[in-house]
Amino acid sequence: MPNKLFTGFAALFCFCFFLLGSIIQRSSLFVLDVENKATVQAAERELTERTWDVQEGTTGVVARRALLDRLMLEEEVPEDDEEDKVPSVLRESPEGRLKVFVYDLPSKYNTKLLEKDSRCLNHMFAAEIFVHRNLLNSSIRTMDPSEADWFYTPVYTTCDLTPNGLPLPFKAPQLMRSAIRWVAEHYPYWNRSEGADHFFTVPHDFGACFHYQEEEAIKRRILPVLQRATLVQTFGQNNHVCLKEGSIVVPPYAPPQKMRSRFIPPDTPRSIFVYFRGMFYDISNDPEGGYYARGARAAIWENFKDNPLFDLSSDHPSTYYEDMQRAVFCLCPLGWAPWSPRIVESVIFGCIPVIIGDDIVLPFSDAIRWDEISVYVAEKDVQNLDTILTAIKPEEIMAMQRKMWKPEVRTAMLFPQPAEPGDSFHQILNGLARKLPHKPEVFVKPGEHPIDWTAGPQQDQDEWRGDDEN
Ligand SMILES: *[C@@H]1O[C@H](CO)[C@@H](O)[C@H](O)[C@H]1NC(C)=O
Ligand SMILES: *[C@@H]1O[C@H](CO)[C@@H](O)[C@H](O)[C@H]1NC(C)=O
Repeated sequence: MPNKLFTGFAALFCFCFFLLGSIIQRSSLFVLDVENKATVQAAERELTERTWDVQEGTTGVVARRALLDRLMLEEEVPEDDEEDKVPSVLRESPEGRLKVFVYDLPSKYNTKLLEKDSRCLNHMFAAEIFVHRNLLNSSIRTMDPSEADWFYTPVYTTCDLTPNGLPLPFKAPQLMRSAIRWVAEHYPYWNRSEGADHFFTVPHDFGACFHYQEEEAIKRRILPVLQRATLVQTFGQNNHVCLKEGSIVVPPYAPPQKMRSRFIPPDTPRSIFVYFRGMFYDISNDPEGGYYARGARAAIWENFKDNPLFDLSSDHPSTYYEDMQRAVFCLCPLGWAPWSPRIVESVIFGCIPVIIGDDIVLPFSDAIRWDEISVYVAEKDVQNLDTILTAIKPEEIMAMQRKMWKPEVRTAMLFPQPAEPGDSFHQILNGLARKLPHKPEVFVKPGEHPIDWTAGPQQDQDEWRGDDEN
C-alpha cells in the first residue's frame, strides 16, 4: 500500500536523520542545492550510505532493531485504530441537509470582473469564485428562494487587481455594500433577517475588514452591513475584531490540478529538515522593519540563515512543490495576515506544517485536529525553532505524517473543479448545515433595524459602479 510504504520510508529516513543528526551535528548533508537534481540525488545517496555506515556501530544496530520493531508494530495497527480515526464531521455530507439560494446578481459584481482579469482565478483568494461556481452546480442549490435555508451573494471582492496582480481591497467595501443594496431591493429576504441567513465569501487578508495591514484592518472593523451575516473567510485569529463568532474559517486557494500533477514517488526520502520559501522582509511596505509578520519572518532569517538544518530562501524555485515533498517540516509563518497557502501546500505534500502565528484559528478547526498534524511555535519562541524541532521524537513525526496523509484531511484543503465529496466546498456546506435550524432571532421584528447602513468610513458609502455604468 502506498501509504504504508510512504510511512515506512518516511520513518526510516526520519529515524536515520535523527540518528545521523545526533552523531554528525549540523552535517552539511542536509543543505541541498534544491535547484540541482543531481546534487539532490548525490546527497541522498550519501545520506543513505553514511546512515548504513553508522548502523555498523553498536548504537546503529540497536537503533535499527528498534526502528524495525516499530515498523512491524505499525503494520499491525488496524486501519480504523481509534487514535488514527479522522473526526466524523469531516466525513459528513451536506446532501439533503440544507438548501441554498444563489442571487442572480448583475455580472458586474462577479463574472465581468473575472473577464477583465482572469488572474484572480488562480490566486490565494480564489475561493470566492469556486464557492460561487460550485454552488451553481450543486444539488443543494434551490431555484425557489422561499424554501432556502441560506442565501448566497456572489461578489468577487478580490478580483480587482493591480498591474502586478495584487488585489486592491480599497474598493471592496463599496462593491460589497452596493451588491447587498441590490439584493435588498430586488428580494424580500435580506430585509427579513438583515443578512443573518446570508453567507458571503470574504477571502482577503483580514476578511471583511478589507485591508492588508492589521492595524488598518482593526481600525476599519468588519464592514457594518455584514455584521449579521455568516462569513466564509481565510482569516482566523482568536479575539480579533476581524473574526466574527460563527464565521467559517477555510483554507486559502491553492491550485489542486497543478499540485496533484506534481507528486513525486511517495517513497522519496525527506532529506530536507526544515524548508521555507518566501519573503522575510517587506521593504516596500515596511521599510523600518518589525511590522511585517510582526518581525517573525525576519527572526527566522536572522537566526537560521546559516543553519544547515534550515533550507531558507526568498527565491521561489520551480521545484517548490517537489522540494516540499522532500522536507520533514515546512515553516508556515504569518505574513501580513496569520495565514498563507503554505498550510495547504504542506498538508498536500506531506510536509509537517510548523505554524507560527499567535492565536491563529486554522481552517475547519471543528473538523480537523490540527494539533495532531502540525507543530505550533509561539512568535516569541522563533529563535528556538532549531531546538524545538529537533526535540520532536521520530515516532511523533511519523504519527503526524500518518494522520496528515489521510485522504479526508487532504481533500478538505482543496477546491477542485468539479467539486469532490469532502473537499473544502463540501466542508463549508457542512459548516452551514450544522448552523441549522436558524434561531428565531435571525428574523428581525417589524420596525427593528439592527444594521446601520450609514456606519463606517465615509468613502465606503460611495456608490460602486462597474465599468459598464461609466
Ligand atoms: C428593504 O429595505 C430597504 C430599506 O432599508 C428598502 O429600500 C428596500 O426597498 C426594502 N426591500 C424590499 C424588497 O422591500
Ligand atoms: C457539475 O456537476 C456534475 C455532477 O453533479 C459534474 O459531473 C460536472 O463536472 C460539474 N460541472 C462543473 C463545472 O463543476
